[in-house]
Amino acid sequence: MSDFVKVSRDGDVAIVTIDNPPVNALSFHVREPLMQALLAMRDDASVAAIVLACAGRTFVAGADITEFGKPVQQPDLRAIVAVLETIAKPTVAAIHGTALGGGLELALGCHFRVADAGARLGLPEVKLGILPGGGGTVRLPRLLGAVKALRMIVSGMPISAAEAHEAGLVDAVFQGDLTPHAVNFAREMARKGGPFTPVRDRDDLLGETDLAAFDAEAADLARKARGLEAPIACAQAVRNAVTMPFDEALAAERALFVKLVASDQSRAQRHLFFGEREAAKLPGKDVVKRRIGRVGVIGAGTMGGGIAMAFANGGFPVTLLETSHEALQRGLGTIEKNYAVSVTRGSLSEEAKRDRLAQFKGSTDYADLADCDLIIEAVFEDMAVKKEVFGKLDAVAKPGAILATNTSYLDINEIAASISRPQDVLGLHFFSPANVMKLLEIVRAEKTAPDALASVVDLARRIGKVAVVVGVCHGFVGNRMLAARGSESEALLLEGATPSQIDRAFTDFGWPMGPFQMGDLAGLDIGWRNRKARGLTAVIADTLCERGHFGQKTGRGFYLYEAGARAGIPDPEVESLIREKAAEKGIAPREISADEIIERTLYPLVNEGAKILEEKIAARASDIDVVWVNGYGFPIGRGGPMFWAGLEGASKIVERLEHWHQRTGKDVFKPAQLLKRMAETGSWDVDAKA
Ligand code: CAA
Repeated sequence: MSDFVKVSRDGDVAIVTIDNPPVNALSFHVREPLMQALLAMRDDASVAAIVLACAGRTFVAGADITEFGKPVQQPDLRAIVAVLETIAKPTVAAIHGTALGGGLELALGCHFRVADAGARLGLPEVKLGILPGGGGTVRLPRLLGAVKALRMIVSGMPISAAEAHEAGLVDAVFQGDLTPHAVNFAREMARKGGPFTPVRDRDDLLGETDLAAFDAEAADLARKARGLEAPIACAQAVRNAVTMPFDEALAAERALFVKLVASDQSRAQRHLFFGEREAAKLPGKDVVKRRIGRVGVIGAGTMGGGIAMAFANGGFPVTLLETSHEALQRGLGTIEKNYAVSVTRGSLSEEAKRDRLAQFKGSTDYADLADCDLIIEAVFEDMAVKKEVFGKLDAVAKPGAILATNTSYLDINEIAASISRPQDVLGLHFFSPANVMKLLEIVRAEKTAPDALASVVDLARRIGKVAVVVGVCHGFVGNRMLAARGSESEALLLEGATPSQIDRAFTDFGWPMGPFQMGDLAGLDIGWRNRKARGLTAVIADTLCERGHFGQKTGRGFYLYEAGARAGIPDPEVESLIREKAAEKGIAPREISADEIIERTLYPLVNEGAKILEEKIAARASDIDVVWVNGYGFPIGRGGPMFWAGLEGASKIVERLEHWHQRTGKDVFKPAQLLKRMAETGSWDVDAKA
């Protein structure tokens, strides 16, 4: 017996238990003893049925992702499933927690699957840039039908035990300790007697496939894949399950898997998987976290309301503070409307809406924040206003309450220094809409106490955010890098590119939208106000704002929006404005290629990221990638700006930046020391010796 796979008996039922914490991944040290145990139980005449279960918090959550890209050590998962399918006595997978990826594929090798009522089952491989490589694309359609399997595999989203039961993926659902139920189920099946048909031989549902409808749905999914290869390969593999004999489809799945796992897109997506988990880890010793029960939010505008909803959705009671009764009612009304929209869309039940609304307590009196353990201000972005709010909090907040600012740019050290308890002050920079966007930049100020920081990192996870801890600087990680990109977008306009040409280069790269579409959507007045506060200008955007053209909300911005339209069309007035401003500056328009657009906007972005690392504003290059993918829509298949820089070649980036630096003298093109070192060493490690 091994430490990782144990066999026990309950009468004539053998229980094979995998025990590989934390998530029972199918590492080599599990696969080898698992194979031996299954062979032994198959050949043991005293065993009437086999239950395959897991110890700890979950059923197998997948292949061991850390083994990807390395030579496969046999037996692989496919060999184990093949052996499972040679067993004539009933085999039952007992699923609790999550059966994901290779875990679900292992369960599909059994004759039966029983699940705990709280279990979730899925094939999330697509999110790692691969497809289920252990027979999942060929077996799942045999149980669910091709179209349902297609949806589940291409989305990567798990389903609940109840849904799985209804769909035919799970044979029984139980409450309470699962193993005894699974043993009884297995014994009952053995008593009834076989033959037991392995999933591979259950072809009846496949015969009913409407291939034209399947292809239409697959084509739609391919369009939404925005350049990612894995969703398309997933659809192809499921189609093969319908059109090819089992073994041929299995071999085709393998070939697609081998190709994808070696691709840059999959490497990028795996980098992000581990990067997100790494970002939540704080260096140094564990500290005792502060207890956070009630959360206070100051400001019920778009940002404050979204933040309050994020906490209410995470199960926290929220006190929402506004300056007047009217503003408070308006804010609460918007929150109620947002939840009502979710109910209409079917993503929230009427009961859940009531529960969430019941979490809110409105107030116009700071004294009502006295019982809050965390208070976040989301008031006007102005230092004097913020300091006034913090002064009031200093007077009313309970000792040990964490006091957070949602500022996007301001110096949090200065805010902290203005009150008597700087150790309790930090930044929580949410992204709009705060109840939807996953990213949360947690800003550590000079005097922030380690336990305050650790508490909010933990809290972020509890409300479903991807948290990245960053240091204080203007714009922190995300907005500071965005500014480096933004100045060049405008320069390209003056030199002859059009907004739609630049946006097109971005969407071709894989972004959901380009910088001008994004500006129009967010509102051009936000950047305008920020530039004015810092004495900066952007001649085209400033002129548009002076004309009252703030983007979608005013029907005009860089594009023209016909009544109610969300997609803009080119605006001749903007194009003549650009030509006029270029002429004033003596710039003659020229042809600009998509390559130049990418080079001049994304290379400065990477360069700023390198400076941020050098200054230790971010702890790791992967933290920056996590910020950009989750907060700004950087294409996941490219892994974030710092990962992408490695693929693009740091030496190429340095050389091109130097070229543009010489031509323009602009600071954004001056290559950072760390970028130059990356070109030599291939590493973003700030402390590494060259
Ligand atoms: N392989 C290796 N390590 C894994 C892993 C995996 N499949 N899944 C999780 N881990 C690690 C995490 O990196 C983390 O490690 P650290 O503590 O060192 O950071 C640890 O396990 C715990 O993970 P989480 O922090 O994510 O824990 P959670 O409780 O929040 O979530 C989970 C658990 C839902 C299982 C989540 O970890 C998850 O989604 N894992 C990935 C599942 C997945 O994608 N499976 C498919 C793998 S690919 C595959 O199976 C290919 C195939 O077809 C053969």
